[in-house]
Amino acid sequence: MISPEGAHWADLFDSLGLEYERSFTGKRQAQIDAVAELMCRLAPGARVLDVGCASGRPTTEQLCAGGMDVTGMDVSPVMLEHARRQVPQARFVLADLFVFDDIEALDALGVHDAAVCLFCLVNLPGPRFVDGLRRLAALTRPGGTLLVAVPEIQGTEEVRFIERTYRPARCLSEDLHRYARQAGLEVERVETRTEPAPDGQAEPGTILFLWARNPES
Ligand SMILES: C[S@@+](CC[C@H](N)C(=O)[O-])C[C@H]1O[C@@H](n2cnc3c(N)ncnc32)[C@H](O)[C@@H]1O
Repeated sequence: MISPEGAHWADLFDSLGLEYERSFTGKRQAQIDAVAELMCRLAPGARVLDVGCASGRPTTEQLCAGGMDVTGMDVSPVMLEHARRQVPQARFVLADLFVFDDIEALDALGVHDAAVCLFCLVNLPGPRFVDGLRRLAALTRPGGTLLVAVPEIQGTEEVRFIERTYRPARCLSEDLHRYARQAGLEVERVETRTEPAPDGQAEPGTILFLWARNPES
């Protein structure tokens, strides 16, 4: 089973393959810093779920190198093929965050100490974003950390993404705060960072990092 968004993203990322990873190579410092900070908070061997892991680089690979026990999840079979080859230390599952059966199957893998979801909850209307956060929380233990990154979108602009153009839904820091509260999460902070433009995009992007905790009860 796959959700409408999942099917859209699976088609796009199946067609992009490693072109996606290459277009951002060397332009991921903010993301790398955030994942390093997350690992400082976790015990060696902590269980981390990487939702929308794509080809496994840089994040799944960085988490494994930091001694985490990592599961990568994605809807794109092509991306997962690359991820399995590039990061053999991690386990990977073909699953859609928005599909209940997939979440049940993932739950069978055990509860995670943290979930990262970097540039996967993109261009979603508010209620769907909140649903995505709830699902991430359901896969994370009480007190566990959620790290979510999204591009900041003012809501009026057309965005170029690897030679494709689209007009995405607004997503500002205040929206992330609100969505996280609506999902029942404890918000620690939303951090704003600027990243260089990926290949095929003229402007540098502003990235929002949501740091939140699954409440203890
Ligand atoms: C923009 S890429 C981000 C990849 C990686 N996290 C990174 O930081 O580079 C988004 C990835 O999320 C996956 N994805 C999108 N929607 C998903 C969903 N509902 N469930 C699981 N994976 C999804 C896509 O297939 C794609 O590989």
